[in-house]
Amino acid sequence: MNIQKEAKKLLEKNRRITGEHQYTIPSEEHYPYQWLWDSCFHAIILAQYDPEAARAELRSLLSKQFRDGMVPHIIYWLPGILHMFRWGVEGTSSLTQPPMIAYAAWEIHRRNPDKAFLESIYPELLSYYRFLIEKRDPRDHHLIGIINPDESGEDNSPRFDAPLSALHDISYKEHLALRTRLVDANTECNFDAETCMRNYFWVKDVPFNAILVENLRALGHIASFLKHGDGEHFANLHAGLIANAMRERLFGGGLYWSAAGANYTLLKVATWAHFAPLFAGLYSEEEAEHVVRTHLLDPETFYAPFGIRTVSKKEPSYRAEGYAEGFSWRGPIWMLSHWLIYRGLLRYGYKTEAADIRTKSIALLEKSGFRECFNPETGEGQGAKGFTWGALVLDMNDE
Ligand code: GLC
Repeated sequence: MNIQKEAKKLLEKNRRITGEHQYTIPSEEHYPYQWLWDSCFHAIILAQYDPEAARAELRSLLSKQFRDGMVPHIIYWLPGILHMFRWGVEGTSSLTQPPMIAYAAWEIHRRNPDKAFLESIYPELLSYYRFLIEKRDPRDHHLIGIINPDESGEDNSPRFDAPLSALHDISYKEHLALRTRLVDANTECNFDAETCMRNYFWVKDVPFNAILVENLRALGHIASFLKHGDGEHFANLHAGLIANAMRERLFGGGLYWSAAGANYTLLKVATWAHFAPLFAGLYSEEEAEHVVRTHLLDPETFYAPFGIRTVSKKEPSYRAEGYAEGFSWRGPIWMLSHWLIYRGLLRYGYKTEAADIRTKSIALLEKSGFRECFNPETGEGQGAKGFTWGALVLDMNDE
């Protein structure tokens, strides 16, 4: 299989145009709308060979921004096809997703400089990151809270079992019902973080906050390039504050852990979230060495024959085969976590280990096609077919 060719073909096939908006759906049969972080990854891939399509992807994503700055995690461009994602408020969901937009915008510009594009989206970008910092951290603790597992992008990760009161062997349907109930409760309390939402589900998630730190730095680059001194100061200040707060409250035993509740109880479930801070350079060189050698490369926990498990094999919640009904973040490999780990490894100079992730990612696509996720032990594909962000392998060639 010529992966390059197949990946580009898939991006083309999953491209949609609605009115003046152009975007790429994650998968025709399962996900016929626009998703926030998916679109950012699609833009990062497109930036390599079709910058105008990459820019269009972000423009359409930002076109449904809420008045308070929130960017919704799904835009239902064509209402009424699927009723599974009934989390909507007038054509969009009421949740957000890991904030990869500034990183994607800077990446597009880095490859194809376009000041006018950056100027045109800068106000929306700034207001999105301001929303996260002001509305999702109402007590100024410098950690951003997510209000639903879906905001992490890892919908059924066992990191969230305790705060959701879910059992390890909960079914896909029951799990979805818990998350939908959260949306209903938050809708009733008008999405007020300070007084209401925090009572239901309020998690300081490691990948979300690590991704935010790296994106605030990207926003800082954009603001500096555009000579918006205030924006540059805001972005860099908060990148530093969040990185420090993560260290203070989410770090224990040489690893980062997500936390829940007012007293920051660490959610001690071993997942690939340990590796996400590599992407933002949050471990020291020595700590990174320990994380990579002792955890990432341990076959008994994360290092599987076909790549990096999203949950340690030693966790009671670990399920290689996912759900019969669909995808799973309870162990299977996702191309997205591979990409973030790949970027993190390169940041610390682990070229051989990064190349190994790339080789394994390509092998998975060759064996099972562009599936949503993969069994780490057998490489078998799971969940949606024709899943667009598999094309992230095109952005794994920098070692
Ligand atoms: C699944 C994934 C989520 C992704 C969405 C659309 O819900 O868990 O991360 O954004 O599919 O692809």
